[in-house]
Amino acid sequence: MGQSSRLSGFYNLSPQERKQIVVDWAALTPEQAAVLESGLALAQADKMVENAIGSYALPLGVATNFLVNGADVLVPMVIEEPSVVAGASFAAKLARAGGGFHAETTESLMIGQIQVLELTDPREAATQVTAQKQRLIDLANRVDPVIVSLHGGARDIETYVYTESPVGPMLVVHVIYDCRDAMGANMVNTACEALAPVVEEITGGRVNLRILSNLADRRLASSRCVVPASALDTAELSGALVAARIVEAYALAAVDPYRAATHNKGIMNGIDAVVVASGNDWRAIEAGAHTYAARDGQYRSLSEWSLTPAGDLLGSLELPLAVGTVGGATRVHPTARAALQIMGVTKARDLAEIIVSVGLAQNLAAIRALATEGIQKGHMALHARQVAIAAGAVGDEVDRVAAAMVSERVVRGDRAVELLAQMRRTDG
Ligand code: MEV
Repeated sequence: MGQSSRLSGFYNLSPQERKQIVVDWAALTPEQAAVLESGLALAQADKMVENAIGSYALPLGVATNFLVNGADVLVPMVIEEPSVVAGASFAAKLARAGGGFHAETTESLMIGQIQVLELTDPREAATQVTAQKQRLIDLANRVDPVIVSLHGGARDIETYVYTESPVGPMLVVHVIYDCRDAMGANMVNTACEALAPVVEEITGGRVNLRILSNLADRRLASSRCVVPASALDTAELSGALVAARIVEAYALAAVDPYRAATHNKGIMNGIDAVVVASGNDWRAIEAGAHTYAARDGQYRSLSEWSLTPAGDLLGSLELPLAVGTVGGATRVHPTARAALQIMGVTKARDLAEIIVSVGLAQNLAAIRALATEGIQKGHMALHARQVAIAAGAVGDEVDRVAAAMVSERVVRGDRAVELLAQMRRTDG
């Protein structure tokens, strides 16, 4: 029997106790355990970017309760915003009551673009490129025999003609490339650059751009979960009513771009946090996600929520997820390596399946809170703790001052100072 990620009361433990549980869970080495706190040394940072002078730390939390395709997972999340890790863990517990998340990925196909200009007949040029497709695929695959030996590499060549653009007609050649466990930007860019002179020779045109597209719509990840209505019961509302309100909350994001932007931001709170923890390129994921959200011409919710015939809550999320487990920062950053080990993933597709499930959980946490007590209640409690600490509260004073401010609904530094003084007088 494997370990369960259902770690009840995890948040009540001290950070060191939590860390020890995760270290034991993932069988991290002492060195890996140490990098969870020490992060990136300057010498390592210097190998990653230019002009390095240090590294910038963000909190690393672990979301509990995740069950993805039947496997228990602890999910490392790097994020500066309070409530995100707690929200993901809470929603994962709700989804767990219905069997957890069921996630899938397509193949790891990325798209590279080659822009061709100065063509007398772009459509004829496209026909010529298509006629020499195999030559281009073979050439791209000679550039990187390693990815070919791993059963990846160039798969197809496609052409798109723009008859009008600000600089006139142009042809775009797409190189469809299977990146396997790599994010793939480097290998796709290299392939595009290698193909460019041959594309010029075939078309008689001039190649300008040769670059990966971040709209990775051939590399999709999706997840779905069913939350039994009974799991959504609150002190004030029946679970059936909460489920119905969650569907109403989703409906606004389905039709309205102002809400969809915020709804999707909530999804990306979860997705980015795991993408960063795993050393992947979160700007690439953001770019792909938001473009995918507008794929039918209107920007919409990336997730969908509905009621099952039995009245339970059914959620699903699909988006491009070009993440890797080899190459780039996933290899170089020691905390990213530890994060992958905590999740127990070596394959990019397994990582993407966890990430998309965290996005769905995060969305559920946000819209459940919004559709019931509102988002401020949970936020207030955390914020109140920070205000109490800033006012000088220590030990159990922090929670007592914070609780008093929350119950008064006055969370301010001056009130925290007063409450603290009062408490110390009474405690004598
Ligand atoms: C805040 O970081 C994210 C939310 O605004 C998401 C949402 O509104 O769905 C709470």
